[in-house]
Amino acid sequence: MQFPTYIRHHRLRAWIKEIVEHCEPARIHFCDGTQAEYDMLCNQMVETGTFIRLNPKLRPNSFLARSDPSDVARVEDRTFICSVSKDDAGPTNNWMAPKEMKEILLKLFKGSMRGRTMYVIPFSMGPIGSPIAHIGIQLTDSPYVVVNMHIMTRVSTKIYDVLGEDGDYIPCLHSVGMPLEVGQPDVPWPCNPTKYIVHFPEERSIWSFGSGYGGNALLGKKCFALRIASVMARQEGWLAEHMLILGVKEPSGRKTYVAAAFPSACGKTNFAMLIPPEEFKQAGWEVTTVGDDIAWIKPGPDGKLYAINPEAGYFGVAPGTSYKTNPNAMESCRANSIFTNVALTDDGDVWWEGMTDEPPAHLIDWQGRDWTPGCGRLAAHPNARFTAPARQNPAIDPEWENPNGVPIEAFIFGGRRSRTVPLVYQAFNWTYGVYLAATMGSETTAAAMGQQGIVRRDPFAMLPFIGYHMGDYFNHWLSFGRRLKNPPRIFGVNWFRKDENGKFIWPGFGENLRVLKWIVERAHGQAVSVETPIGWVPRYEDIDWRGLQFSPEQFEQVMECNVAEWQQEVLLHEELFIKLYDRLPKELLSVRDLILSSLWRMPEKWGATHE
Ligand code: OXD
Ligand code: MN
Repeated sequence: MQFPTYIRHHRLRAWIKEIVEHCEPARIHFCDGTQAEYDMLCNQMVETGTFIRLNPKLRPNSFLARSDPSDVARVEDRTFICSVSKDDAGPTNNWMAPKEMKEILLKLFKGSMRGRTMYVIPFSMGPIGSPIAHIGIQLTDSPYVVVNMHIMTRVSTKIYDVLGEDGDYIPCLHSVGMPLEVGQPDVPWPCNPTKYIVHFPEERSIWSFGSGYGGNALLGKKCFALRIASVMARQEGWLAEHMLILGVKEPSGRKTYVAAAFPSACGKTNFAMLIPPEEFKQAGWEVTTVGDDIAWIKPGPDGKLYAINPEAGYFGVAPGTSYKTNPNAMESCRANSIFTNVALTDDGDVWWEGMTDEPPAHLIDWQGRDWTPGCGRLAAHPNARFTAPARQNPAIDPEWENPNGVPIEAFIFGGRRSRTVPLVYQAFNWTYGVYLAATMGSETTAAAMGQQGIVRRDPFAMLPFIGYHMGDYFNHWLSFGRRLKNPPRIFGVNWFRKDENGKFIWPGFGENLRVLKWIVERAHGQAVSVETPIGWVPRYEDIDWRGLQFSPEQFEQVMECNVAEWQQEVLLHEELFIKLYDRLPKELLSVRDLILSSLWRMPEKWGATHE
C-alpha cells in the first residue's frame, strides 16, 4: 500500500492497512482539507445525485442533500458503550461485551466499502496544536461525511506533523454499509438498515456502521468530542460537556464567559447567538459565540477553568430558525453551507418551517416531492440541518480560536419545564450545583393532548452522550470542583414556564440577556438575591427591565415555586438516584435531604419577593 510520505506514524499506517484489507475499498483518498478538495467532492456529489447545487446568487457555494427517509437522526437505541465491564457503561447506556461486539462489527465491515472510495480524514477537535485539542483520524466511505467534517472540524495534513511518529489519536471507522458491486447503480444516499454506533472506551476507538447522518457519521462530534472525550476527561482531570460557550461584554468593557447545557430542542444555538435587546445593544452590551454545542474545559495554571469549542462549524437544526429568532444563525448559513433534508424553492434556494411567516406557494419537500401550503405534510424534516462554518457567524467571539481557551465564570443548566422550575436560580455552592445539573429534566415535546409534557431526566444534558457510568460522572464533577480554588458559580434557568392558558410567560430569545446580566453579576459577587430552599433567586428589582414591559406579577409567575410541586419533583429525582444508586455520590442524597427539610419550613408557595 502506498502512503503519502507525510504519514510517518507507524500505528496509524498499520491500522489504515488493516482496514483497507478488511473493508476492501476500490480506492483510497488521503484528505488534505483544502478548498480544492472540498470543491472536487461537492462537484462529484452533484454528478452522482447526492447533492443539489443551490442557486449561487441566492446561496453561494451551497448544497442540498436529501437523506434516505430512514436515516434522519441520531439512533440512540443503536448506540453502544462497549466497556470491558458492563458496570462501567452504567444503566443509562446500551452495552455489549467488546469481544462480542467486535465479532458482529467485523462481519458487517467485511467488504463493506467494496466499489467505493475510502477517505482518510485527519482532523483536530479544537485549534490544531492547542493544549486542549485532540486529534482523530476518520476512515469513511462517504464523501458527504468528508465535506461535513471539513466544516465541522479542522481537517488538514498538519495533523500528521502534530502526530509525528507515535502521537495519540482516536481511530474513527465509519462505513455506510452499502458495498457497490460492479455495474450496480449507486443511490444518492447509501445506508444500511442495520446500524451500530459503537464506542470502545478502554481502547478509545469508534466504529460506526450503516448510517450516513449527522451525529451517527460525523464521528468527531458526539462520538469523539462527547462520548470518548468524557472518558478521557475523567481519567485526565478535565470536562467534556454538551455545552455552548458564550461571551458577555458589558458597557464597562468587562468580558465574562459562561458555558451552558440544555438538552436538544431547548434553543441552545439561539442562546449561543443571542442578540441583546435594542436598549442594551445601544448601551454597549454584546454577546459573542465561542461554541453552540460542545465545550472542552480544563483547569489552567491560574486555577481558573478554560474552555474551547472543539468544533469549527454549526450542525444546527433548521426548522424554527429565522431572521426573527436567530439572525446570526441565518447569516452563518448564507453561503458555503450544506443543507440536509430541508425543502427546495423554485428559484433554487432552501426553505423550512418557521423560516418565513408565509411559506412559498410551491416547494420540493425533503423527500423530493411537490409541496404546497396546506398539503398536510411538512416541507422540511423536523430534524433538518444546516452545516455552516463558525467563522461566518457575525457574532463569533474574537477569542473563539484561542488555543488556550476562554475563562469560564459560570455554568448554566436549563431544561424545558412548563411549571415548577423558576426562570433563574443560583446554586448555593458547587455540590448544590452538581445536584441541580444531575437532576435536570426536560419535557418531551410529544406530550399527549391536554397532558403536561412528560419530564425526562437528562443529567447535565448528557444522557445520550456520556461514555461511562452516570454515577461516576457525578463523582467526577464533585471531585473536579473540589480541586478548584475559585470554581465557577452554577445556575439553573427555565425559559419555558407557561401560564394557565398554556402560553409562554417569558418572552425568551434576546430578552434572556436580562437573566444573563444577573448571572454575570452574581458570578462576580455582585447583584442582590434572596435565599430559597433550592438556591438564591433575584427579586424583581434585581433584574434590569429597561425597554421591556414585564410586570412584578408576571415576574412572580415565572419565579413562583410551590412546596407540593417541589416535593413531587424531589420524588422524581429519587427515581434517577435509585437507578444509579451503587455509584451515586452520597453528597447528592444529603443535598436532597437539605432541600426536603427546608421545603418543610416554607409557606405553601414562594416566589421572588417572599420574606
Ligand atoms: C445535536 C443534538 O445534534 O444534541 O446537537 O442532538
Ligand atoms: Mn447537541
